Amino acid sequence: MSKIIDGKKTAAEVIENVKALVADLAAKGHAAPGLAVVIVGEDPASQVYVASKSRTAKECGFHSVQHTLSAETSEEKLLELIGELNADSSIHGILVQLPLPGHIDSGKVIQAIAPEKDVDGFTFANVGKLGTGEMQTAFVPCTPAGSMLLIERVRGQDLSGLNAVVIGRSNIVGKPMASLLLEANCTVTIAHSRTKDLPALARTADILVAAVGRPEMVKGDWVKPGATVIDVGINRIAAPEKGEGKTRLVGDVAYQEAASVAGAITPVPGGVGPMTIAMLMANTIVSAYLAAG
Ligand code: GUN
Repeated sequence: MSKIIDGKKTAAEVIENVKALVADLAAKGHAAPGLAVVIVGEDPASQVYVASKSRTAKECGFHSVQHTLSAETSEEKLLELIGELNADSSIHGILVQLPLPGHIDSGKVIQAIAPEKDVDGFTFANVGKLGTGEMQTAFVPCTPAGSMLLIERVRGQDLSGLNAVVIGRSNIVGKPMASLLLEANCTVTIAHSRTKDLPALARTADILVAAVGRPEMVKGDWVKPGATVIDVGINRIAAPEKGEGKTRLVGDVAYQEAASVAGAITPVPGGVGPMTIAMLMANTIVSAYLAAG
């Protein structure tokens, strides 16, 4: 049986470090780090994530602001809000929860965020820095950054020469994850819906990252014995065994099967999810330090 990678524990450690840094900033006479979280519309999963981000920000001692906008909000109004937040010196991090309603151009909104407040790491400036290895000055997207920390906890800092397969090519997870693994000297393959013989490719992975949003897609026999498996998926599926209308959360990996083969694996929930939020707090405290000079 494999080692279960405890994302909750590592996330709690990151958050303790953030709290200590908040205290240090305060001791030096600086204002608390400010995080603005913007949500447009009523997507239930997004509401849960955003509530969790705002709650954790408060717990860290941040100045935490949440803007909840109706699904009908115009792109112009949203861009106006971003402009105000960019100009607000009490705000060090701006996060616009994705997905946005269809009538809004997400790309345009994301690129409107000042790169120095882009704690999601989605602006061209931050994506470009990550892609060219300028990691020291980049904000790295939170889910891949958190996944990387978990991988290093399990395998140590030296990932040189390991085969890494990332399933999924999103801008939020797949692509930045691949960049981080490449920067760590892994041999990286990005797999996606057009990839041929995905099970065979996955079996070559010493590090297998699943970020596709398909419940339990990665089966036990896709996993190389001893591999580190990072399950980024958070999927809500029907759970009739718990009663009529009940649901449960599962990842993109068939957990029980994969856990019997893997060397280490993240559970869902309690794996990558808490790390995403912890890394958002870490990026925001870094932004506040940079602003403090
Ligand atoms: N939607 C799903 N994941 C994320 C994320 O990391 N950041 C934002 N802004 N939206 C998301």
